[in-house]
Amino acid sequence: DVNWKLADHPKLPKGKTIGLIVLDGWGESDPDQYNCIHKAPTPAMDSLKDGKPDTWRLIKAHGTAVGLPSEDDMGNSEVGHNALGAGRIYAQGAKLVDLALASGKIYEDEGFKYISQSFEKGTVHLIGLLSDGGVHSRLDQVQLLLKGFAERGAKRIRVHILTDGRDVLDGSSVGFVETLEADLAALRAKGVDAQVASGGGRMYVTMDRYENDWSVVKRGWDAQVLGEAPHKFKSALEAVKTLRAEPGANDQYLPSFVIVDDNGKAVGPIVDGDAVVTFNFRADRMVMHAKALEYKDFDKFDRVRVPDIRYAGMLQYDGELKLPSRYLVSPPLIDRTSGEYLAHNGVRTFACSETVKFGHVTFFWNGNRSGYFNEKLEEYVEIPSDSGISFNVQPKMKALEIAEKARDAILSGKFDQVRVNLPNGDMVGHTGDIEATVVACEAADRAVRTILDAIEQVGGIYVVTADHGNAEDMVKRDKSGKPALDKEGNLQILTSHTLKPVPIAIGGPGLSAGVRFRQDIETPGLANVAATVMNLHGFVAPSDYETSLIEVVEK
Ligand code: 3PG
Ligand code: CO
Repeated sequence: DVNWKLADHPKLPKGKTIGLIVLDGWGESDPDQYNCIHKAPTPAMDSLKDGKPDTWRLIKAHGTAVGLPSEDDMGNSEVGHNALGAGRIYAQGAKLVDLALASGKIYEDEGFKYISQSFEKGTVHLIGLLSDGGVHSRLDQVQLLLKGFAERGAKRIRVHILTDGRDVLDGSSVGFVETLEADLAALRAKGVDAQVASGGGRMYVTMDRYENDWSVVKRGWDAQVLGEAPHKFKSALEAVKTLRAEPGANDQYLPSFVIVDDNGKAVGPIVDGDAVVTFNFRADRMVMHAKALEYKDFDKFDRVRVPDIRYAGMLQYDGELKLPSRYLVSPPLIDRTSGEYLAHNGVRTFACSETVKFGHVTFFWNGNRSGYFNEKLEEYVEIPSDSGISFNVQPKMKALEIAEKARDAILSGKFDQVRVNLPNGDMVGHTGDIEATVVACEAADRAVRTILDAIEQVGGIYVVTADHGNAEDMVKRDKSGKPALDKEGNLQILTSHTLKPVPIAIGGPGLSAGVRFRQDIETPGLANVAATVMNLHGFVAPSDYETSLIEVVEK
């Protein structure tokens, strides 16, 4: 039984309006020409930092501080928002899958037993993001699964690949396909009929999120299930090389393709009796696809043919919806999040972002849980994102609209916490377009200003932070920090997140005198923010939460 009642903070008052801003993809790095945050005019963010060592600091947003396997793992929005909201560090999907594979437990659990019933007579299909990005999936895990399935009786294997270029360098898809093809060839040499069946770029095929654009999922369905796509090739390597040679092509947006045999017939449509495993461990970009695969009633697009399959996710992607119902590894059980505590303690919360990040400040923030804890106290507002575009075309995105919604919520007096995610630095940073990312950072900064002004007006408190780095470094670097050139001597633009720390700033007229960041916490990270925010709401955080970042000194 959980005791939901939070103790009163001995020194900090209740009832202050808190504006909680998460800048997505906004890390701290050395100022140079590839640091878009440095290049952009960011007066609002600068004003929180300059000359304010007591109320501005850096915190860790990558690696083990957010539950990832190693310090080489860059942060991402899922683990970042989980840590921010839950106030504790959980072993995340990537690590849980590693452990299950290493111990072999993955093959003893229900999910595997279920799908392996198709090994004798059917085909087992693996679908997911093919890279070593470690954000949604990891190639080495896929390699182990392929081997493990074959050793345990899979006779016919088809892989449906989604090329990355977003968590890894653009162009790296070719190398990942080569690695995969070599593994599949090795399986064939052992008598397993194993090959790639279809593919496409992750942003164009299958991996949409938060119901932004169902046509993305449909394209994947057509290629994977129906065996239909505008492009047909004899091999995945030929497919990726040919499609990348088109002007303006990039891994994230490759069109869909199917692999065909000598008669032009697709080699791996999904049919009755087959098994399907989606090997991404991260949820957000798999939920829509899982609905298409699992739901009997489904009206988002015409599936044409709905095969009778045994389907399992690498993880369960939505614990509330129990979707998918079968999975290979149990997801982290993130419980007693700060949102749930605060709801039990009467704190009224407003949360807002645009579609592409809406689930980040709600679903991820609340421990991968959809919906409200207490409908009477909470309001979540989603501003529709522009869909069907790459965000370098509209780098301002909906920052202004999000800020205005937050401002109105703050001024309404109806909420104690007004929480937003400003997506620009991240979503535009992922396009690798440096000029557009500078515009994006400026837009995010303006949005911050609007929210800070509203907090000023109501005598509130602001907490401004970020979930991980992205826009502060747009180029791949060598060990010494200099831009690393490729074989032809070109810069390699970094579309991915980074290993950088992120800022956190507190302030506003409602902040009690004497509140400052403690200096005695060794390497604090995102998980320390929840207790901090609880303090600023006038509560002591639960004892198992990571320590608060603040202390109150006599002034
Ligand atoms: C994505 O899904 O867009 C990227 O892989 C990770 O970005 P996010 O963690 O910022 O959402
Ligand atoms: Co991102």
